[in-house]
Amino acid sequence: MAAKMQTLEDLYMDLLKDLYSAEKQLVKALPKMAKAAQASDLQRAFQEHLKQTEGQVERIERIFSDLDGSPRGKKCVGMEGLIEEGSEIMQEDAEPEVMDAGLIAAAQKVEHYEIAGYGTARAWAEQLGHRDAARLLQQTLEEESMANEKLTRIAESHVNMEAR
Ligand SMILES: [Fe+2]
Repeated sequence: MAAKMQTLEDLYMDLLKDLYSAEKQLVKALPKMAKAAQASDLQRAFQEHLKQTEGQVERIERIFSDLDGSPRGKKCVGMEGLIEEGSEIMQEDAEPEVMDAGLIAAAQKVEHYEIAGYGTARAWAEQLGHRDAARLLQQTLEEESMANEKLTRIAESHVNMEAR
């Protein structure tokens, strides 16, 4: 049975659980994306983001330990769908540059989804007076934005290489 959702605090905790599930799913998906990536810069970007993602999982665990709660018990179906889209691309028999472009597109959808979720979580943490949590969520938000920008730069450099 679903837990009661009466306050913003309840909604906030629920969102953090959702983000936790999203990150845990991503920890499993990123090594596969790194393997499927053809260009070495894209492989490296996925591997680096895997390390960052592990740190993001720990941040959410820290927030919950301060609240004496557990982040477990929810499945982020949004991330499940985005990862499914990524694995559909990986199953395609695509040219290397086409595969990479598809993987970058899938990964950027993931980053935008996370940026939306963390932006809300940070705003609610501030509203609820959870200053330490807000700071941790801000750190993750910045990492997700940088990861997104890095993917844009990689995509642009690949297009430029193609053009030459
Ligand atoms: Fe993340």
